[in-house]
Amino acid sequence: MRFLQEHKRLIGGGLAAILAGGLLGYGIRMEIELLIMNRMLRGELAGERQTASAERNYYENLLSLASSTNQNLQQHLQGEQSRNNAIESQVLQLSGNVNQLTQLQNTDPQLLEKYSRVYFLNENYQPKSLTAIDSSYLYNPKRTEQFLAPALPYLLSLMNAAKIAGIDLKIASAYRSFGTQAALHTEYLVTYGIGTNQFSAEEGYSEHQLGTAADFITSPMTALTTTFASTSAYAWLQSNAYKYGFVLSYPKGNPYYIFEPWHWRFVGVSLATWLYQSNQSFYDVSQRTINQYLISIFN
Ligand code: DAL
Ligand code: ZN
Repeated sequence: MRFLQEHKRLIGGGLAAILAGGLLGYGIRMEIELLIMNRMLRGELAGERQTASAERNYYENLLSLASSTNQNLQQHLQGEQSRNNAIESQVLQLSGNVNQLTQLQNTDPQLLEKYSRVYFLNENYQPKSLTAIDSSYLYNPKRTEQFLAPALPYLLSLMNAAKIAGIDLKIASAYRSFGTQAALHTEYLVTYGIGTNQFSAEEGYSEHQLGTAADFITSPMTALTTTFASTSAYAWLQSNAYKYGFVLSYPKGNPYYIFEPWHWRFVGVSLATWLYQSNQSFYDVSQRTINQYLISIFN
């Protein structure tokens, strides 16, 4: 009995030991498995981290490559834009030069030639375009007086400015053809003889044939005489005519004709202003210098 009891206890103990051992083994295995899983997870995590870091490096490299490519493209674009701007300004300059050449080609070079007793204007010469001056500007409204069309606005501006300033100014004579000048000169010769050459140009030598010269008169004058020099009209012309492109052709002491305070010639605002400011007379300046102003005569 005792044996049986002892045996049972042994068996029970054995079973318990087996059970305990089993449980213990199971627990350890679990722990080991957990450790393994933990390691695996850590490994995977490390792997993931490595992958993520590699990916980040990859994208960062890509980004820096894109940014430097962008910078290169921008530099290239700026270079292209500068080249385009340079070409554009060259084209503009060339077309400006072409415009100036065309303008010069279309501008009559005779307009700034010096016509006096020593310079001859061809007998066939006629201005390119003449326009009748409105009779309200004329000393004798019944006559027809003409002026070179592109110069007429300058003449009228001068006349209007004089009127606003309270100056009485009228045009006594403007364009005269070769034939008209010949007839006038012959008429003067009959009356004044050889002295005529002191105040009247022979045909072909008169600035009036250009269509850009005007003889002014003011009341109460009835003829063109040197008394015009003491009028307020002459004083006004002396101070203001250059602003409208007009110069006095034959000042006191000129080597060609008597002092003609009434005779003014259109030479363009640039040249007239330069002559006024440098206190020079048109006929005292070299033709070469004068010719430089031809291009800007109607500007
Ligand atoms: N009175 C000027 C000189 C002319 O006849 O043209
Ligand atoms: Zn004149």
